[in-house]
Amino acid sequence: MTSPLKTIKDKALDALQTAANLNALDAVRVQFLGKSGEVTGLLKQVGSLPPEERKSFGEQVNVLRDELTQQIAAKQKILEQEALNEKLASETIDISLPPAPRAYGTIHPITQTIDDITAIFAAMGFTVATGPDIEDDFHNFTALNFPLEHPARSMHDTFFLEPDAPNEAPKLLRTHTSTVQVRTMNEQKPPIKIIVPGRVYRSDWDATHVPMFHQVEGLIIDEIGKITMGHLRGCLDDFVRAVFNVPNLTTRFRPHYFPFTEPSAELDIAYARRDGKVVIGEKGGFMEILGCGMVHPNVLKACGINPEKYQGFAFGMGVERIAMLKYGLPDLRDMFDSDLRWLKHYGFSLLDQPNRATGN
Ligand code: DAH
Repeated sequence: MTSPLKTIKDKALDALQTAANLNALDAVRVQFLGKSGEVTGLLKQVGSLPPEERKSFGEQVNVLRDELTQQIAAKQKILEQEALNEKLASETIDISLPPAPRAYGTIHPITQTIDDITAIFAAMGFTVATGPDIEDDFHNFTALNFPLEHPARSMHDTFFLEPDAPNEAPKLLRTHTSTVQVRTMNEQKPPIKIIVPGRVYRSDWDATHVPMFHQVEGLIIDEIGKITMGHLRGCLDDFVRAVFNVPNLTTRFRPHYFPFTEPSAELDIAYARRDGKVVIGEKGGFMEILGCGMVHPNVLKACGINPEKYQGFAFGMGVERIAMLKYGLPDLRDMFDSDLRWLKHYGFSLLDQPNRATGN
């Protein structure tokens, strides 16, 4: 190879060697093989050479051009692969990292409280049952021993829906989760041991009432003698002590009236006010926390269960009230305002375990 060729070849191979990316490589291609490139320039000289040198010089330049073309193509492949690897590496997402805190929503205190309550009763062997929000008169009232025209019906400010047909009885939004007692007893044979968390509706709106709220109902049915008022008291004492995390919480059973239980009672818990705050378990006064009683024989009959053979207890509680007391929420209506600041302040992390968080 004549010396100008050798010089250009060495220069080109050097440049190829140092080209670190695709742009640099293209610059090398232009510098040597482009229209005014150095190798192209050599080819242009061929015509002006004496005839005896033309052939061999021409051949050598062509060999050099082909070799460079091949080497550039090979290097291009390598650089392209490197560029792709770099891009893939820079776009990798490390899915083992936890999400940024607060970059997602929070668990609403009502949901958390339902989970808290459910976890406690689940540990006692209760299973969760559910039913529809839209109900009929039978499941909401009649089967629960509210006779027609009975004044107790007016205790519930019921939302009635437009009837489907002119002379059909109107459906209603259930006013309590006791409806699911009826559904469960109609479908299952005793022993029955359920809790029923769910939404309920009443036409009411003030500082302590909202038209949609949540209840948890409980029901145990077994053979007569197996389930007594004593079991009811023990079960509910264990529950309130667990939910408020006050192991020696004082409770009180106070006689009450519900159509679907006989006898009926309300369970009160001891509390006191300290610095304007409610302290549960401290002696001072009592506050009502839930309603309960022994299931009325008429309810068992209406659900196809023989009251001569079976008996049980039932209870029902408002979730909002427990959430407010447990987590120190000041106003019932805030719960349904969807105010992001409130939700961030009072909401729970996805990772919180039911009933682990303590109150205010
Ligand atoms: N259903 C009642 C209400 O909404 C709550 C209740 C009280 C349920 C006593 C019961 C019970 O099962 O035994 O006010």
